[in-house]
Amino acid sequence: MARTVIAGNWKMNKTIGEAVAFASNLREVLADRHDLPEIIISPPFTALHAVSAVISGSAISLAAQNIHEADKGAFTGEISGGMLREAGCNLVIIGHSERRVLFGEKNERINKKLFAALGAGLNPIFCIGETLREREENRMKEVIGEQLKEGLNNLNDNDIERILIAYEPVWAIGTGKTATPAQAQEMHLFIRNWIAGRYGKELSEETVILYGGSVTPQNIALLMSQPDINGALVGGASLDVGSFVRIAEYKSNQGV
Ligand code: PGA
Repeated sequence: MARTVIAGNWKMNKTIGEAVAFASNLREVLADRHDLPEIIISPPFTALHAVSAVISGSAISLAAQNIHEADKGAFTGEISGGMLREAGCNLVIIGHSERRVLFGEKNERINKKLFAALGAGLNPIFCIGETLREREENRMKEVIGEQLKEGLNNLNDNDIERILIAYEPVWAIGTGKTATPAQAQEMHLFIRNWIAGRYGKELSEETVILYGGSVTPQNIALLMSQPDINGALVGGASLDVGSFVRIAEYKSNQGV
């Protein structure tokens, strides 16, 4: 059985000061809350180092939002896995749909980034998802299958053990439209079966598959009641400590 994880993706939000205030508040609220799932936050690059100092020694993990596939060199504006490790990250989000759509990242590049992250000692949160058009054309499984096949190309069992997958239908991100629990479950099961076909049943059952796209304290409990949803990657609702914690408390928060 896969563990449960609630991850916040802050995107391009929060100054260093705001990020530090959020992290100290979150640390305080979560102290001694051993009943909650694993918690990950992902501030923008500029705030990573400062936030890592604030959460050091706590149960909160730190993820970056992107990585460059090279170790170092002439790549103006880019950040390597080694740099992210040094800044205190233990995870990195790779292949978010905003990176795919707005910055032209393709599956092949995403595969290189996954290798770079694993090589640098970072656990990837590998994002996949179909667009509205692909869903309307009923091509979502074909698209997700291709993203998995090309994204995970040449990754072995040890690698897959370290990867969290985030299924985020592009049409549900930041739109207020959540996939219904049944729609999400159908895709999560498809993803788990795909992993089972490639890496075996045992590994597939341990793989954390997060749902992302307009997750809120109101809809999390129903999503989490689905057998193949192991947590959430939360954007907008992760920017406020109160709503982020209410999402993590989904077991006691039945849609409040
Ligand atoms: P959202 O973003 O929760 O604001 O829809 C999710 C994401 O992009 O990871």
